[in-house]
Amino acid sequence: MNDDRPDRRWTLVCRLSDIPRLGSRRVHRDGAVEVALFRAADDHVFALLDRCPHKGGPLSQGIVFGQNVACPLHNWTIQLSDGCAKEPDEGCTVPFAVKVEDKQVYLDADELSTLALAAPVSAVVKVGAVA
Ligand code: FES
Repeated sequence: MNDDRPDRRWTLVCRLSDIPRLGSRRVHRDGAVEVALFRAADDHVFALLDRCPHKGGPLSQGIVFGQNVACPLHNWTIQLSDGCAKEPDEGCTVPFAVKVEDKQVYLDADELSTLALAAPVSAVVKVGAVA
């Protein structure tokens, strides 16, 4: 997710080199679901709640390709830019704002302390789901 708000309070979470290319790293949050950082081949970094919108699989353990991650449980493809599943699958996990500056990776401190703190699947936004 791109940063577009000047009022963000950024907090340093790791160095870019701490995230393997085409890999991930988790950011711990006390008492809350972790945030997964993903690094694309071009060093673009993305941050998503570490839960798949399908059944809560740990996206940080998936395979990163292009700007997507394949969930390790049932192989859904999740777009790193917005956390949404590619068709024909449906649903989105929660994206977090991320900034890379001078090879340091930052997340929004307010989002870290407020977004998707509860149970992972209930925090997921279902798009066009059929009851
Ligand atoms: S839990 Fe991710 S594809 Fe099923």
